[in-house]
Amino acid sequence: MGNKNQKKMRSEDWFNPEDEKSAFIHRSWLRNQGYPNDYFEGRPVIGICNTWSELTPCNGHLREFAEFVKRGVLEAGGVPFEFPVTSLGEILMRPTAMLFRNLASMDTEESIRANPLDGVVLLTGCDKTTPSTVMGACSVDLPTIVVPGGPMLNGKYKGERIGSGTFVWQLKDKIKNEGFTKEDQIEAEICSARSAGHCMTMGTASTMACMVESLGLTLPGAAAIPAVDSRKKVMAQLSGRRIVEMVKEDLKLSKILTKEAFENAIKINAAIGGSTNFIIHLLAIAGRIGIKLDLKEFDTLGSKIPLLVNLMPSGKYLMEDFFDAGGLPVVIKEMKDQLHKNVITANGKSLIENNVTAECYNSEVIATLDKPFMEEAGIAVLYGNLCEDGAVIKPSAATPELMTHRGKAVVFETIEDFLSSVDNPDLDIDENSIMVLKGVGPVGYPGMAEVGNMDIPEKLLKKGVKDMVRISDGRMSGTAFGTVVLHVSPESSIGGLLALVQSGDSIVLDVPNRKLHLEVDEAEIQKRKAAWTPPTPPMNRGYTSLYTKTVQQSHLGADLDFLVGKSGDQVSRDAH
Ligand code: FES
Ligand code: MG
Repeated sequence: MGNKNQKKMRSEDWFNPEDEKSAFIHRSWLRNQGYPNDYFEGRPVIGICNTWSELTPCNGHLREFAEFVKRGVLEAGGVPFEFPVTSLGEILMRPTAMLFRNLASMDTEESIRANPLDGVVLLTGCDKTTPSTVMGACSVDLPTIVVPGGPMLNGKYKGERIGSGTFVWQLKDKIKNEGFTKEDQIEAEICSARSAGHCMTMGTASTMACMVESLGLTLPGAAAIPAVDSRKKVMAQLSGRRIVEMVKEDLKLSKILTKEAFENAIKINAAIGGSTNFIIHLLAIAGRIGIKLDLKEFDTLGSKIPLLVNLMPSGKYLMEDFFDAGGLPVVIKEMKDQLHKNVITANGKSLIENNVTAECYNSEVIATLDKPFMEEAGIAVLYGNLCEDGAVIKPSAATPELMTHRGKAVVFETIEDFLSSVDNPDLDIDENSIMVLKGVGPVGYPGMAEVGNMDIPEKLLKKGVKDMVRISDGRMSGTAFGTVVLHVSPESSIGGLLALVQSGDSIVLDVPNRKLHLEVDEAEIQKRKAAWTPPTPPMNRGYTSLYTKTVQQSHLGADLDFLVGKSGDQVSRDAH
């Protein structure tokens, strides 16, 4: 049935080979699910890679969504096969879902390559489910489209917007200072998760959805549609139709994911006040598809970009408001003069072509370039003796007065040390201190947990202190805020200078000059270095052991070193 001018589809190798015995094997067992003959006669075979799981509540609706994708695939003449991959739930998984991002990417990569697929639809939602599946798909490089599962409806608590995640970080203050009771807490729990979907702040999940849309991996406007909006189902169906065409056009990931596409994504992420986790995931995706991207470029391309979106944690609205205001297309249209035009997206058109007709319906939520919510919103990358390979800070979530600050370090050697001592009334700390947390990097935690936004000590909260400078080799939740220096590289657990900081040392943070410096003289540093021993690895077997032995540092994207790059879609040997 296939068009003669088209490249032979890879699924034909399974279903329509010269070798009758092999074709029998590949077709016969599948037929037990009830497929007519023509399913195996040259129709594009589309894998629907589903991260559905009841343990990933943010993706709990994706099984139903797969049916809408299938509708679209069938309408366009393709054949859909849904398959599960490792699903990563941000909230429940210990020690952190990030530890398993690379594992899930391996699962995705091998599941795609090993099967008779011509194209792939990635159904994603919760934070890590987007980068993990995109990374895996990149290492195979088939035509691929992403259907982001969509945010929850706005959280509403006693008439106020309540943002997933962001509210949690305010909880301690509310209980200590605002008389928040247990009953209030239970009510707020329900109110902040009242529909299917992922976190509805501009946290990491929404950031990832916007990232794939700005890279061109979705249909236009896909990111902001709430999970329960009927238009999300339509988006899923249209994506199913489109992937069949993408297979015919051989529109592979590597044709979409050019250097220009990555640069556009960095600028758009700055304009929306996206999560710092964007950096690590985009670096890892670039590494898979083979595009050179340097941590510094997030600063040079993004830091001067103004904030156009007024969403928590940087602002006050939520994803549903963003969607109602016109969503990401409005931002892209507004930024069109700063974006590369020579990029192609999943629908075959350029990013600008797709979004030129977008209209803003609420200027409280999406601003224009000449009247932004903040002048410079993008992530700043710091260097200095404390972070020779870089560290990051998100100015839009920080306190302007603290962006230049010299203070005495209060060091927490481990997360346990922090948890047991932060609220000790005898802790020698004041609002000018700099909180330093070690051992929470990729190797250290392990998995680089989102603990960098340390809680402010209780005794300072009572004094009304809302923010302090905090430094660590960990990450912070995309829903969090504060003057928080993250992703210090090299991390403390492999002997970065962070490991040698002691309480009482003076540290200088100078964001305008992109500097983070430990003011301890060289002789003293050498003395401490000689006395330092690396912490014992948390586990000596299994995936964790593989991870800690091979994980790259955060400035490279924290991928496993042997996973960087791609192996393509060919497998030379058959199973029988
Ligand atoms: Fe899943 Fe926030 S916990 S998106
Ligand atoms: Mg998160």
